[in-house]
Amino acid sequence: MGDAPEGFVLRSYAEATAVVKRARLVPGQPEASELLRRVRGRSWIRMPLDGPPWLSESEEQLLTDWIAGGARDARGKPMPMPVGARLQLGGTLTARWAIDDLPLVVSSQTVIETDPKVGDLVDVRGTLGAAGEVLVEALRRP
Ligand code: HEM
Repeated sequence: MGDAPEGFVLRSYAEATAVVKRARLVPGQPEASELLRRVRGRSWIRMPLDGPPWLSESEEQLLTDWIAGGARDARGKPMPMPVGARLQLGGTLTARWAIDDLPLVVSSQTVIETDPKVGDLVDVRGTLGAAGEVLVEALRRP
């Protein structure tokens, strides 16, 4: 298929945990990790792109546990929190403001468009705060 569209590749630990324009992994936070959200079909397009088949439940669980445990490398060193990195998450608005029960920090700076309601699929863009929280810049129905 040629080069990875956004330069993000999954060949090695270093590449998979790298922040290339945005973070796809947030150590300790499976729900904030776009990589897992894509695999579960919460963020779209669902991965792998040529699925189905999707990953099995046990493979999803392995990824979930690995991220929850700090996305550690082969030596057991946890991935550093990519504070300040951009995030892009798709999901279902489950509260004002949360997607799939992941709490979102919405402030007066947040741009909320297209009148999203609880139950809607939404697209969230923002950055990762110092404590690993999702600081939302924009939230809209796609
Ligand atoms: C379980 C295996 C896979 C995982 C965990 C995965 C993960 C991801 C993630 C996190 C993105 C977000 C966009 C980005 O960061 O650039 C993405 C996008 C993309 N992936 Fe995958 N991927 C997988 C398999 C595949 C396969 C097998 C293909 C090709 C056949 C593929 C092709 C693409 C393409 C074309 C995009 C860009 C589309 C978009 O941004 O929505 N991926 N993938």
